[in-house]
Amino acid sequence: MEPDLQRVRRILVVNGKGGCGKTTIATNLAVAYSKAGKQVALIDQDQQGSSAEWHRVRSEQHEDIRLIEAYRREGMYETRTFQTRMPGDIERVIMDTTSVGHSHDLEVLIKNADIILVPMMASAIDMRVSMRFLTDLVTHRAFRARPRAVGVVVNRVHAERGLPESVEHFLSCADIPHVATLHDDRGYSDAAELGCGISELASQSRAESLAREQAALETIMEWVDEQPICSRVTVAALRQRPLGAKRQGTQQDSDTAARA
Ligand SMILES: Nc1ncnc2c1ncn2[C@@H]1O[C@H](COP(=O)(O)OP(=O)(O)OP(=O)(O)O)[C@@H](O)[C@H]1O
Ligand SMILES: [Mg+2]
Repeated sequence: MEPDLQRVRRILVVNGKGGCGKTTIATNLAVAYSKAGKQVALIDQDQQGSSAEWHRVRSEQHEDIRLIEAYRREGMYETRTFQTRMPGDIERVIMDTTSVGHSHDLEVLIKNADIILVPMMASAIDMRVSMRFLTDLVTHRAFRARPRAVGVVVNRVHAERGLPESVEHFLSCADIPHVATLHDDRGYSDAAELGCGISELASQSRAESLAREQAALETIMEWVDEQPICSRVTVAALRQRPLGAKRQGTQQDSDTAARA
């Protein structure tokens, strides 16, 4: 059975910068969607196999997340291959990638994505590399041919200090939606080791920070779910839509219209 393309959202987690939180966000988002009752596939496109390793240690007691180790196969980026290897009931596909530098790699990833999340840490170096990456992304011919929703997830922000002004300045200059902020929290590395999501950790002493991070992941899901898929919207239209603004009509209507 081929997946029902009307229901599937393919979420690409990507940045040219290594260590910015791609695997952390991909795995935690996979868990968050799974806990919300969605059928989830996690695609590991990275030869390091970090998501695959996370999946290997994941307990069977947790929600089931299907893993596809795309980097192991030839032709991994072919849309056809990609679809036939995807179980038919999947509703959310989350793609964890390597740090993409090559234009061809970016092209095939863009072509297989409906929505693009760019994790970014708040340092000057990370912002500089991310700005270059975002520019490469939105000016890429594959993107311009069919623009998709792109949003930044700011990662590892100090919980007490909050979002630095330099990041707010960066985000307004980049003119890309700021989807959510994740904080620097030990729970993410604990969860990575245990093959679970931050929302699956049980710790009464850290309940408050875990709940805060869970809320941020829910904000990402809400944003993703309100974006048009395989859209023909223009970059200008994407820029005009304020972050978190509700779209008109039902989701199915908008999905169908976007894919028509
Ligand atoms: N918000 C966070 N709080 C605390 N630790 C974090 C957070 N985000 C990521 N980390 C830790 O930072 C390290 C790098 O994160 P991660 O592996 O997700 O980055 P990546 O972008 O996938 O890296 P790579 O480019 O190597 O694939 C990991 O040890 C992870 O546990
Ligand atoms: Mg990774």
